[in-house]
Amino acid sequence: MRIPADYHPKDGLLAGKHILVTGAGDGIGRCAALTYARYGATVLLLGRSGHKLEAVYDAIETAGGQRPAIIEMDFASASEEAYASLAAGLTQAFPHLDGLLHNAGLLGDRHPIQSSGYATWCDVMQVNVNAQFLLTRHLLPHLQQAPRASILLTSSSLGRAGRAYWGAYAVSKFATEGFMQVLADELENTSNIRVNSLNPRATRTAMRRQAFPAEDPVKIPTPEDIMPAYLFLMGEDSAGITGKAFDAR
Ligand SMILES: NC(=O)c1ccc[n+]([C@@H]2O[C@H](COP(=O)([O-])OP(=O)(O)OC[C@H]3O[C@@H](n4cnc5c(N)ncnc54)[C@H](OP(=O)(O)O)[C@@H]3O)[C@@H](O)[C@H]2O)c1
Repeated sequence: MRIPADYHPKDGLLAGKHILVTGAGDGIGRCAALTYARYGATVLLLGRSGHKLEAVYDAIETAGGQRPAIIEMDFASASEEAYASLAAGLTQAFPHLDGLLHNAGLLGDRHPIQSSGYATWCDVMQVNVNAQFLLTRHLLPHLQQAPRASILLTSSSLGRAGRAYWGAYAVSKFATEGFMQVLADELENTSNIRVNSLNPRATRTAMRRQAFPAEDPVKIPTPEDIMPAYLFLMGEDSAGITGKAFDAR
């Protein structure tokens, strides 16, 4: 699915909302965090590199946005207890959580399945799949406190059609789509939480450069170019839409 072609987010679209963005220190997540703050949200910046999160924090403050929060967490090594204590801390600090953008991702290696290393396979699954489960599971009670919350999962074209040599990454994105469908179905009639997936498609970031080093980056859309989809699916304009797989453009 696509967002409406003529979509123009209104100023203050996210005012009063608390939105957690994973992988907020770089790439698409950084841009989404800055954009959500620009549209009025208080953004909870989660990532594994403190210095990158601090730079995003400073940029939001300089731009006059709501004061963000920093949550330093490495999905590759965090225990389930760390997710539980994160959720407890957030519940104390914020009365409700209105949005959760699962954006952090790991590319892993591109090899045939036969020569894929098990350790790398597990790392990719831990960051791209298991972390989504743990974070969602522990934050659901907090999301249920919001009048209408949005959970947005980051997919990929590789999560919709398998391709040779994309091993763990592609499988992790299929899992993301499956997680989205199961969760959306569970919550549709029992909560005010909507759950959708979004495929950014080719976007000019470090991950894209790593995956396609010979590509001319200038020809690739920037994270800013795809922010209308991130705003539409996080804000009230998508109220009532759940269980859908979107493309950002
Ligand atoms: N760019 C594209 O063309 C494209 C296309 C389809 C889908 N996607 C998806 O879009 C999402 C964002 O990708 P991107 O292109 O913006 O990638 P990126 O520039 O590599 O950024 C990925 C973010 O995830 C964080 N991250 C990685 N491992 C982590 C861990 N163990 N714990 C916590 N955070 C971790 C990174 O933190 P550090 O900065 O500290 O490393 C970084 O902030 C990903 O889910 C990706 O699969 C991207």
